[in-house]
Amino acid sequence: MGNIFSDRISDVPRSFIREILKITLDESVISFAGGLPNRDLFPLEEIKAATAKLLAESGKDVLQYSSSEGYRELREWIAARYRKKEMTIDPDNILITAGSQQGLDLLGKTILNEGDSVVIEEPGYLGAIQAFSIYRSRFHPVPVNPEGMDLDMLGQVLSSHTVKLMYCVPNFQNPSGISYSAENRCGVADLLRQRNTLLVEDDPYGELRFLGQDKQSFHNLIPHNTVLLGSFSKIVIPSFRIGWIAARHDIMEKLIIAKQASDLHTNYFGQRVILQYLKDNNIDDHIAKIREEYGRQRDAMVSAIREYFPSEAHYTEPEGGMFLWVTLPSGLSAMEVFKKSIAVKVAFVPGDPFYVNREQVNTLRLNFSSVDADTIRTGIRRLGDVLKTMV
Ligand SMILES: Cc1ncc(COP(=O)(O)O)c(C=O)c1O
Repeated sequence: MGNIFSDRISDVPRSFIREILKITLDESVISFAGGLPNRDLFPLEEIKAATAKLLAESGKDVLQYSSSEGYRELREWIAARYRKKEMTIDPDNILITAGSQQGLDLLGKTILNEGDSVVIEEPGYLGAIQAFSIYRSRFHPVPVNPEGMDLDMLGQVLSSHTVKLMYCVPNFQNPSGISYSAENRCGVADLLRQRNTLLVEDDPYGELRFLGQDKQSFHNLIPHNTVLLGSFSKIVIPSFRIGWIAARHDIMEKLIIAKQASDLHTNYFGQRVILQYLKDNNIDDHIAKIREEYGRQRDAMVSAIREYFPSEAHYTEPEGGMFLWVTLPSGLSAMEVFKKSIAVKVAFVPGDPFYVNREQVNTLRLNFSSVDADTIRTGIRRLGDVLKTMV
């Protein structure tokens, strides 16, 4: 039988992280590989109470089909939260999606033709690379550094190609943990202001800052060019798969068509439970707890790295989020380190899948949010021992 698969799907690799996560199902493995929030902080009792109340008070209403845009009151809640950050976004400009990951897919469907140029960060979020690959875009990776995007390189790419979309995670980026400085954001905005390029600002971690000051969103700087992606995955729970896109009116109209074609609407019951939870609880208190705990976990990881890693290894010191990025001496393959590290039951993600056209790279991602401080120390000590035999 011939090949039945579309060209679209044939070229897209499976998510390497999902493959690694299979290894980490072995409970004796200390895993810094996943991107999981800390489950001990899930508001279980509050979600139980919200669910019971909703079913008792709204009965069968919450079990029915609903609108493609998403539940109005939830969109109003999201718009009000943006307003607190001086961002003027109308509920009509918000589409509730099945996680922000679906936002990426719907944007690909709505904006990208085959061969269209897309700027992504290097290293960049694997889920975005995968989502846009389905639409056969042409990637132009622009390196990120502790200040943000490499502006010279971005300028060069923008002047030599017609870039349709630029994707970035300016707060506590996945995978590197870095955040764009205020100056860097202005520099990016200046380069995009006169162009037709759409900037997709994906911000699942922005509220999880444990150090430093919040920075302006690109929506404050170049609102016409900016599409925002948001999510409840990291601030409430990920299993409901509830996120959103905030976009200007003409884009929203097309996104709604794409949403209808994909799944009619996002899980309505989940939207209602989340909203009930938000109405009955103080989300800022909850987020404060997450920040405090992630700050402690991050400190445990940074101090263990300082103590146990060879001095040739460099690492980012994130001010928020869930990840830290390690750069090994050049020539040392993180994939080779991974093989040895699994033998001592420590997992992480080698940098390779976060690049579109590089292999055997000397970088790796460590997640600190899903492992407790003592286990972090043990895992980093074991990984440090492996590294010392290799540098
Ligand atoms: C940068 C980034 N965007 C999007 C997502 C997807 O999140 P969601 O659960 O909202 O689909 C993740 C998840 O790890 C992420 O790190």
